[in-house]
Amino acid sequence: MKAVVYKEPFKVAVETVPDPQILHPNDAIVQITSSCICGSDLHMYEGRTAAQPGIVFGHENMGVIVEVGPAVKTRKVGDRVVMPFNVACGFCKNCLGGYTGYCTTVNPGFAGGAYGYVSMGPWVGGQAELMQVPFADFNCLVLPEGTDHEADFALLADIFPTGYHGTELAGVTPGESVAVFGCGPVGLMASYSAILRGASQVFAVDHVQARLDKAAEIGAIPINYDVANPVEQIKAHLGGEGVDKGIDAVGYQATAAGSSAVGGEQDEVPNIVLNQLIDVVAPTGALGIPGLYVPSDPGGVDERAKKGALSINFGQLFEKGIRLGTGQCNVKQYNANLRDLIISGRALPSFVVSHEVSLDEAPDAYQKFDQRVDGYTKVILHP
Ligand SMILES: NC(=O)c1ccc[n+]([C@@H]2O[C@H](COP(=O)([O-])OP(=O)(O)OC[C@H]3O[C@@H](n4cnc5c(N)ncnc54)[C@H](O)[C@@H]3O)[C@@H](O)[C@H]2O)c1
Ligand SMILES: [Zn+2]
Ligand SMILES: [Zn+2]
Repeated sequence: MKAVVYKEPFKVAVETVPDPQILHPNDAIVQITSSCICGSDLHMYEGRTAAQPGIVFGHENMGVIVEVGPAVKTRKVGDRVVMPFNVACGFCKNCLGGYTGYCTTVNPGFAGGAYGYVSMGPWVGGQAELMQVPFADFNCLVLPEGTDHEADFALLADIFPTGYHGTELAGVTPGESVAVFGCGPVGLMASYSAILRGASQVFAVDHVQARLDKAAEIGAIPINYDVANPVEQIKAHLGGEGVDKGIDAVGYQATAAGSSAVGGEQDEVPNIVLNQLIDVVAPTGALGIPGLYVPSDPGGVDERAKKGALSINFGQLFEKGIRLGTGQCNVKQYNANLRDLIISGRALPSFVVSHEVSLDEAPDAYQKFDQRVDGYTKVILHP
């Protein structure tokens, strides 16, 4: 089959790789109809992780089951399904607690597995024609038959639940004001989720104009951090007060004001968003941090950043009594309910999708999404 293979920093290629097989009675094989490119893929694409050449990318996968192992009981050939990016067993201690992002079965020696991702186990990515799904009864979320809402449902694999997770970690409740740093796909989904949860005002911070425009489209207040300090801009809207809740949808590759949209190590200030959030959230507020931070970053700006050690204004955090939550999204905690919001028409997250292209166009799409040019906000590949 054809698949998107990582070659070297800033290079992927579409190559022929072996077809996946049923290796265990609980497996299913899914023919992929949609697989999205994620900001998380860019960390590997840019050589900012330990990812080795040869890895097949793709953790945001949707398709139709074409084969099931003999132990698969509730999913069948022909089912239209979307898989959480987390690969999970459903029976380990963490899965039983709902923390499927920290499954201890699927990636021995580590808590957490994913398709097509460095350090996340042997699971081959779905930016390909076919994909093996282990524990298929647990990992395949069944969707309505047909082709309706393909782009909305594809976002259930990661970014819609992950943006929602940011609002859950921050405990966003009706009437609150929320600052969301980052208007990439995850940030836009966090802003959208905050609005779904009844936030009164959502401030969406970025410096890529096309992305700020999308935030404004859904009713958020766009804040361009190249124009002035975003904390001061947000407080000016609130008579000098801070926001109730804050969300970091940027992560460790945060860039300083005035940097190019493309970013790059020279522009990075890995702790800037965390410290601005501590500054902008009012006393007794809370922070949700779905943005990725890593314990090892070969391209880190200095020795401490290379180890993921950041300087955080913890004294200010303590003084203000701000709570925080972070980590991988446990997609399964949210995906069925978010699917039903799509079916009922109360949520249509696909406003974030800017480009839908064939698998063969993946190398070009990676490059443009990475450079944040031509309005590349979210790309779906259709094998
Ligand atoms: N926790 C999880 O389970 C999970 C899942 C998916 C993605 N992620 C992570 O979430 C983050 C966002 O993902 P994405 O797909 O939206 O990525 P993305 O790279 O497309 O978007 C990041 C955005 O942040 C903006 N940005 C950079 N510096 C900033 C700053 N100082 N202030 C405000 N905005 C700034 C960039 O311009 C960009 O638009 C990534 O770190 C990704 O790895 C986490
Ligand atoms: Zn993703
Ligand atoms: Zn498990």
